[in-house]
Amino acid sequence: MWMLFNRICTSRARLDGKTAVITGANSGIGKETARDFYRRGAKVILACRNIELAKEAVEDIKNNPPSGIDEGEYRNGAGELAIYFLDLCSLKSVRNCARNLLKNEATIHILVNNAGVVLLPFKKTEDGHELTLQTNYLGHFLLTLLLLPKMQLSSPGCRIVNVSSILHLLGDINFDDIYLERSYKEWPAYNQSKLANILFTKELARRLQEANINGINVYSLHPGLIPTKILRHSDNFLFPGTYYCFNLFASIFCKNIVQGAQTTIYCSVDEKTANETGLYYSNCNVATPQWRARDDQYAKKLWNLSCRLLDLEPKADFITFLKDVSCQLTE
Ligand SMILES: NC(=O)c1ccc[n+]([C@@H]2O[C@H](COP(=O)([O-])OP(=O)(O)OC[C@H]3O[C@@H](n4cnc5c(N)ncnc54)[C@H](OP(=O)(O)O)[C@@H]3O)[C@@H](O)[C@H]2O)c1
Repeated sequence: MWMLFNRICTSRARLDGKTAVITGANSGIGKETARDFYRRGAKVILACRNIELAKEAVEDIKNNPPSGIDEGEYRNGAGELAIYFLDLCSLKSVRNCARNLLKNEATIHILVNNAGVVLLPFKKTEDGHELTLQTNYLGHFLLTLLLLPKMQLSSPGCRIVNVSSILHLLGDINFDDIYLERSYKEWPAYNQSKLANILFTKELARRLQEANINGINVYSLHPGLIPTKILRHSDNFLFPGTYYCFNLFASIFCKNIVQGAQTTIYCSVDEKTANETGLYYSNCNVATPQWRARDDQYAKKLWNLSCRLLDLEPKADFITFLKDVSCQLTE
């Protein structure tokens, strides 16, 4: 019965000749999104840290069409699949991945910032940032800025899609203690990072518009509750069996993985969202995020803090700013 309320992306848009980058595409929502883009004829780049799992995902995508699609039709209309190494826990890896993409790919039309972690204990990355914040938000912030010039050259029709979560509703940005070092808790760290995804979407869309960079739209979304690997650390956090219980509950009462990819696909390809930017979506619809995510000053403040954390000078002129960011690739 619950399934009746799960909307799907009904667009038949083709992506022939388009290139899409999806982070964390070796499993879950990212993999199903990759399968959909591949079916539509795109060159799909799986940006992953586990190359073995990414290779398995490529084989799975090639050999298994989405349900309801004939195998012959799938093969004839399919695009291309490629793997790039990306570990968001390392900004060096983010820069290397961006450098390789900029060097090897003539165009990038769609970027789906999908990779995510939750319920990790407090830890700092090699860059000195809190792990969940860097994986879910800061790494994607930098990757996006580094790929933007190429997307600008590939526009119009480019889209940046940030996968957030309904749990942003419980989140706040701790501007005075962004790593939550004083009182680290796993859920608040996740909620903060997911609120940051929405604020980034809003502020990036605003800056692109202000700089008259047309043809690149930005979206954020909640995919639904879906039985994926996302809660695999929950057994250590709560009680043994939490992971199993959540996935059982989600598979009965919530969305399956194909349904869970629909809002990402909707934001990435649907004609209905082609003229929208800076908004938050849920269940293939525009949705209203919490008040902080709608606050322009909050979004600007987070942008400036993110720049400081990444040693970037937040210039008033966005085009000069992007050039400065790109210089990080030659240092
Ligand atoms: N499932 C849900 O109910 C739900 C609800 C709301 C929001 N979301 C969001 O949906 C997105 C996708 O999650 P999912 O549910 O599909 O979970 P998933 O199956 O665990 O997928 C997460 C992906 O992120 C990758 N990843 C994690 N850390 C990474 C890193 N440092 N560098 C590169 N890739 C990394 C994982 O790769 P490895 O295999 O190498 O770890 C995996 O491919 C996440 O942003 C999540 O917050 C999910």
